[in-house]
Order: sequence, then structure tokens, then C-alpha cells
Amino acid sequence: MYRDEEATDLPPEALQAIGALVGYYTELTAERARERRDDLLSGLLDAAEGDDRLTPEEIVGVLILLVGAGIETTMLLLGNAWHAAWKHPDERARTFAGRVEDWIEETLRWDPPTQALARTTTEDVEPHGVKIPADSRVLLLVGSANRDPQVFSDPDRFDLDRDTGPSLAFGSGRHHCLDANLGRLEARIALGELVGAIADYEIDAVAVKRVHSSNDRGFASLPTRITARR
Ligand code: HEM
Repeated sequence: MYRDEEATDLPPEALQAIGALVGYYTELTAERARERRDDLLSGLLDAAEGDDRLTPEEIVGVLILLVGAGIETTMLLLGNAWHAAWKHPDERARTFAGRVEDWIEETLRWDPPTQALARTTTEDVEPHGVKIPADSRVLLLVGSANRDPQVFSDPDRFDLDRDTGPSLAFGSGRHHCLDANLGRLEARIALGELVGAIADYEIDAVAVKRVHSSNDRGFASLPTRITARR
């Protein structure tokens, strides 16, 4: 899913990997079509609305969507949370004193893993006085919306006490994240375990590596020296 720094296209090995994953899911779908098991793929094969069923191609599409939407985002959230708390020692002390849920919510607002969403307008619209004709491609910048000073006071401040209700980290409307609750639960478990085992930490700022992606933001590597709890 990542590009090389400054590159606009995925590297060939990434395209090959996506091809291999599609091949794997296609074979697995054919296998489950012959013999069901107690798993998601079998559930998707049996899912029906009236006479309408998902075709094998649609099922492979759903699996590709889930692997991209469900794994990458939570993984990046963990790094972004780790980095945000390190940058803000006062707030870090509070996260370690039991504010893990607020740590997650404020990270999702302040440094969301999904920074941009694409849409195509189906009719003319005029948000904030700007005319956008029907059939236009629009890029919605979640990261920017989450720092909108008309919505969040002092938006660049990382603040565990703030109301993160209007955050768009999980999107909005009919395409709102299918499993925001699972993402939150995974982050709660992972960060909660870390807080239970670690008293404090220091990130090696020079060795940090970011991922390069068209719409995701986060870290490929966040080397950390920890002080363990006794
Ligand atoms: C912290 C973790 C996560 C973040 C930040 C996140 C973010 C988002 C965002 C911003 C969207 C809206 C996309 C759009 O409007 O175009 C979305 C949609 C979606 N998410 Fe998540 N997500 C997370 C975790 C998950 C998990 C754990 C799953 C499933 C296992 C998941 C599955 C999906 C799916 C299937 C959609 C598409 C929904 C649709 O188009 O109707 N996400 N997510």
C-alpha cells in the first residue's frame, strides 16, 4: 500500500503483491463455495437479499476492502498515538495514568491514519460558497477538517480533555467506517497492555521512518527505548 518517497505510483512489487492477494482470495472463495466453514468468507457466500447474492468477484472485492480498511488503519493509529503522547509529555503522563480511551480519540482527531477520502459529485453542490459541478472528483481532507478552528478550539493542541465528537477520523454518513468499534477496541487493548508494562519511553527521533501513501499517515518504524514498570 506504500509508495517510495516522492513517488506517485505504487512500486511494481506492491502491484505484484496485490495481484497475489487477489489470486489467493479467488482460490479461497472457490474453495469455500465447494465446502463452507464457520468463517466470514462462508458467511459472505451465504449472504443474500431476496434473490440477490454477492458474485465471487464482489466477495474478493469485499475481502480486499476489509484487509486494507481494517488492518492498516489500526496499525497506523497505534504508531500515531505512541508518537503523539511522546511529543506531549504532560498529556503522556495522563494517558499513562488511565486516560487510554481519550488518548485514542484525541490521536484520531489530531493525527488521523486516514487523511483523505475521494468522492465523485452526483449533482451540483455549493459547500461554503464554492460551486462544484456534478461529476467532479473531490478530495476530502479529513486531517484538515479535524484541525478546523471553527469546529475545534486551539485545534493544533493535543488535548485529552477536548470533545472529539465532531472528529471525522472514521468518515461520515453512509460510508462511515464499518468497524470503528473494532478499531477502537484493538487500540484500547494494545495501548492498555503497553501502559501496563511500561512506565515511560523515549522515541529515537532521528531513526523514525514515515510511510508514504496517497491517503494514509503514520509510521513504518518508531524505534523506542522504554523504562519497564517494576
Ligand atoms: C482506527 C482504525 C480505523 C480508521 C481510522 C478507519 C477509518 C475509516 C474511514 C475514514 C472510512 C470512510 C471511508 C470513506 O468515507 O470513503 C472507513 C470506512 C470503512 N472502514 Fe474503517 N477505519 C478503521 C478501522 C476499521 C476496521 C477495524 C474495519 C473492519 C474490520 C474497517 C472497515 C471499514 C470498511 C469496510 C469501510 C467502508 C465502509 C463503506 O464504504 O460503506 N475499518 N474507515
